[in-house]
Amino acid sequence: MKDIYILAIETSCDETSASIIKNGNIEIGTVVLSQMDTHKKYGGVVPEIASRMHIENITLVFEELFEKTNLNMDNIDYIGVTNGPGLIGSLLIGIQAAKTISFIYNKPLIPINHLHGHIYANRLIGDFKFPLIALIISGGHTDIIYMEKDFSFKKIGSTKDDAVGETYDKVARIMDISYPGGPLVDKLSYEGKPIYKLPIPLDDNSYDFSFSGLKTAVRNLYNTSPNINKEDLCSSFQDVVVKIITKKTMRAVKEYNVKQLLISGGVAANSGLRTKFKELCEENNIELLIPPIKYCTDNAAMIGCAAYYAIKNDIFSENELSAFSTTDVK
Ligand code: KG4
Ligand code: ZN
Repeated sequence: MKDIYILAIETSCDETSASIIKNGNIEIGTVVLSQMDTHKKYGGVVPEIASRMHIENITLVFEELFEKTNLNMDNIDYIGVTNGPGLIGSLLIGIQAAKTISFIYNKPLIPINHLHGHIYANRLIGDFKFPLIALIISGGHTDIIYMEKDFSFKKIGSTKDDAVGETYDKVARIMDISYPGGPLVDKLSYEGKPIYKLPIPLDDNSYDFSFSGLKTAVRNLYNTSPNINKEDLCSSFQDVVVKIITKKTMRAVKEYNVKQLLISGGVAANSGLRTKFKELCEENNIELLIPPIKYCTDNAAMIGCAAYYAIKNDIFSENELSAFSTTDVK
């Protein structure tokens, strides 16, 4: 069978990234240009600045990618691009670049849902064994997805308010910890102990989550306790997050009787969650896939993997795709 090479593009938020993926699971090369240092001083991503920086960075990313992989457009069979969900202005830069290259080089264009990308990042480390449960934990989503086969996504649970990554970032802001809060709260949590009592949110029989009450509880405790220890508060917060996410996910794994659990999205980089999921899956004899940290946060390699399976499932676009800002994992 002929090898398939996909040029993938991701610009949904504040990372400009391009990647070349062979046959859906071999990474030939990836370049990620992060804008984090620019957005840091504003305490979060500023959409207008993000779009402008994508314009400045996108050609640099392509140049570096082709230089480091020693490939050119003759080697590419398809172009995959994130079309949502994300910041509209940012998405449009990637889509415009993809459309232009597709037109000039006459290569078919595959629109990819960013969340499908997060799930398919796991292809870089192993085959999927269906049925499976995929947990997406990112800055914008907290979803439990049941998959019976490739590109079939049944959402069985989701957050009713804030996403878990967003909660990490907001909790960090409450404690004056710099942006992005997730990795720093994670790090500080290991320097403290979970001694503060925080409510376990939506500890019920559904697969849904709720994090805004937990965030408010952290805020109230922080603002009313002058001698509070930040490390202990981070540790107490992370302890609750790990408990509720692992509890509901593992219940889904058992009730749906699946063969595999996939974890993905930026918060899959969290060391507390990684450790606990490994422990629980070992105990329950469930195969676990979690991408290395560089494939958890936004990158184009995951879009290339998803694009390969989109092609296999006939999800095509002939230059008619446009960006969308919010969506479910359809
Ligand atoms: O997937 P991602 O890069 O972008 C979205 O699609 O949203 O996820 C970014 C989110 C941010 O909220 C960031 O704080 C969080 O992932 N994050 C973490 C960690 N690393 C990144 N949250 C908790 N612990 C971490 N180690
Ligand atoms: Zn993402």
